[in-house]
Amino acid sequence: MKRAKDFNTKAIHAGGPHKNPENAVNSPIFMTSTFEFNDLQHVDDVMSFKSDDYVYTRGNNPTLRMLENRIAALEEGDSAVAFASGMAAISSVIFSLMGPEDEIIVHRTLYGSSYSVVTKLLPKYNMNYKIENLTDPSNLEKVISDKTKVIYFETPSNPNLEVIDIKAIAEIAHRYNAKVVVDNTFATPYLQRPLTLGADVVVHSATKYLSGHGDIVGGLAISKDPNYILSLKFEYMCEFGGVMSPFNAWLLLRGIKTLGIRMEAHEKSAKQIAEYLEKHPKVEKVFYPGLETFKGHEIAKEQMDGYGAMISFEVKGGYEAASKVIEGFEMAKLAVSLGDCETLVEMPAAITHRGYDKEKLVSFGLTESMIRISVGLESVDDIIEDIEKALAKA
Ligand SMILES: Cc1ncc(COP(=O)(O)O)c(C=O)c1O
Repeated sequence: MKRAKDFNTKAIHAGGPHKNPENAVNSPIFMTSTFEFNDLQHVDDVMSFKSDDYVYTRGNNPTLRMLENRIAALEEGDSAVAFASGMAAISSVIFSLMGPEDEIIVHRTLYGSSYSVVTKLLPKYNMNYKIENLTDPSNLEKVISDKTKVIYFETPSNPNLEVIDIKAIAEIAHRYNAKVVVDNTFATPYLQRPLTLGADVVVHSATKYLSGHGDIVGGLAISKDPNYILSLKFEYMCEFGGVMSPFNAWLLLRGIKTLGIRMEAHEKSAKQIAEYLEKHPKVEKVFYPGLETFKGHEIAKEQMDGYGAMISFEVKGGYEAASKVIEGFEMAKLAVSLGDCETLVEMPAAITHRGYDKEKLVSFGLTESMIRISVGLESVDDIIEDIEKALAKA
């Protein structure tokens, strides 16, 4: 897949800036909850969408709109909705596409809270789910039916970096009129644009690489269909109330300006670290789509513009050895989240994917001894030295 030549330009300029009396190059933050109407005609125009002026920040706000337009341009969609968190985006999108008796098919490994929404919340509303290994699209063909309304997955998936062929899944899903929703958090639009491969909706935890600095929590949903985005915004985001703060939107606009150069730097180090881990005698297995030996490598090569900077690995000696390693890092932080400047390490089975049944985790290829690294922007030699010291504790 080829990224637009002007990606970095759009990351800085698309969707803005606002005209402002002081000619500030960086648009001001519109920290206001409400907007004044000129008169009742203006009320009527705005409330009936004849004017796209603003009413109330839970419905829209200039800083949020600028962010929505920018991410829509980067994902090659039409429009977007900003949410208070990635989970607000994910749960609102899933509920917006489902009704009673409808079914969602999800990939077997998902971020823990997304897995909980699907397996715990949906059944309360008489909505059904199936969990499949979507790395093989023929598995979808076997279980999809007219009841299926949504296919939901992350690619690469959290935490075992499984790669799913977006084009192949979309082709099957659309034959059944099901919508394809892709969580593009790990790849970011710099490395992958699912809407151009047939996905209907892209969701993000903007908390991660899009922010890039670990200082906000936010979510985004993007689509090529403006009517869907209008409904998602006013019937779901606005009514569930999971709106993003204008301040967080402004920090995201700032973070996204450097997305491209950050992703290049993250990935350069990740590649070196994955190769180092693969050769390490204490490491059992490395999960990284950039390794030629990795199962999803060929599809990743085709549908992505790079392989990202999330790596998981298993330590020889099981949980006992892995727990010594995770506590042995000195520079890298033992913390959830990812995509920050700091290298972050965690154990998915004990932390982010704790909600999965233990047996299910193993059958989904996710052992208790797996360690996930979000490769940061520190000097790569320092990251490798830290990993070396941690592995020496095993
Ligand atoms: C792949 C993925 N999707 C969604 C989320 C949820 O995002 P947030 O924490 O912003 O609600 C996360 C959080 O770690 C994630 O890793």
